[in-house]
Amino acid sequence: MYTIAIIADSPLPDRPCRELYDAIKRRGHVPRYVPISRITTSFITGNISVKIRDRAIDFDAAFLRSIGFLLDLEQFLRRVTTLRIIEEMGIVLVNPLEPFLRSRNKLEITYELARRGIPVPYTTCTEDLYYAYIEAKRLEEFVIKPITGSRGFGITKLNDPDIAFQVMKVLLGYRKPIYMQEYVRKPGRDIRVLVIDGQVFGCMYRIAPEGSWKTNVAQGGRGEPCNESRRDVEEIAIKATEALGLIYAGVDIAEKDGSYVVLEVNGSPDWRELSQVLGRSPAEKLVEVIVRLIKR
Ligand SMILES: Nc1ncnc2c1ncn2[C@@H]1O[C@H](COP(=O)(O)OP(=O)(O)O)[C@@H](O)[C@H]1O
Ligand SMILES: [Mg+2]
Repeated sequence: MYTIAIIADSPLPDRPCRELYDAIKRRGHVPRYVPISRITTSFITGNISVKIRDRAIDFDAAFLRSIGFLLDLEQFLRRVTTLRIIEEMGIVLVNPLEPFLRSRNKLEITYELARRGIPVPYTTCTEDLYYAYIEAKRLEEFVIKPITGSRGFGITKLNDPDIAFQVMKVLLGYRKPIYMQEYVRKPGRDIRVLVIDGQVFGCMYRIAPEGSWKTNVAQGGRGEPCNESRRDVEEIAIKATEALGLIYAGVDIAEKDGSYVVLEVNGSPDWRELSQVLGRSPAEKLVEVIVRLIKR
């Protein structure tokens, strides 16, 4: 019997966290929900302690679901170091910290995929306004994304280089780098593939709402069965997950001219819509995997 934590930002667990909590219990282990702000580290020469309130942490493993979104740099650094200490104490993190952090950063994702020959859309990342303007003229139709965004928030499609110039100038003024990507003319949908432990757990189409090109559920997108289950899509998703070093991931894939490109690899994917479409939740499988990693 193991104690398995679920670490997240929110004081209350969301649905995927609750499903993990229940699955841990059902499998005969002890679940613990831990908001990351409650974890304290203390130090004295030669000794380090990690506590939740007055209680030393005692879990064997933890699902790392979220470290927070609108974080200050100091808060981000504290949380990262805290998690690194926990991991170095021998506590298994799923996903492991480094890949988890990498997958929060779209620049890292695109780099890790492109260098391995996994298909990605043409992407440029820069802080050079003049260069970005030249790219905007060349690309004609493109999107600008926040490097750490999610749920489709803030992703903007542009096709006028001078509107782009103004937008990018303001972003740079707020110290936001420009991450721009060729707009992929996908067929009103993309494909979400959930990979767990080197295998496809399931996939679905995400259909964009009428008149929109965003397929995120948070943007009104909805899941539909993706029965074709094409071998090449699965292969790309598995390779992309491996490329990031993730144990499980939600991979977003767009259809482009009869072929595929990876838009994103999520290291803590929400699976609510996918569970609905598939009629099964990945929580049990994830618990099975984490228990195997504890035993290893
Ligand atoms: N280059 C692109 N071309 C066309 N659609 C895109 C492109 N990049 C992202 N999208 C769409 O925008 C939405 C959000 O994309 P994504 O890059 O996964 O960011 P997020 O982290 O916000 O989910 C998805 O619906 C995706 O299909
Ligand atoms: Mg996405």
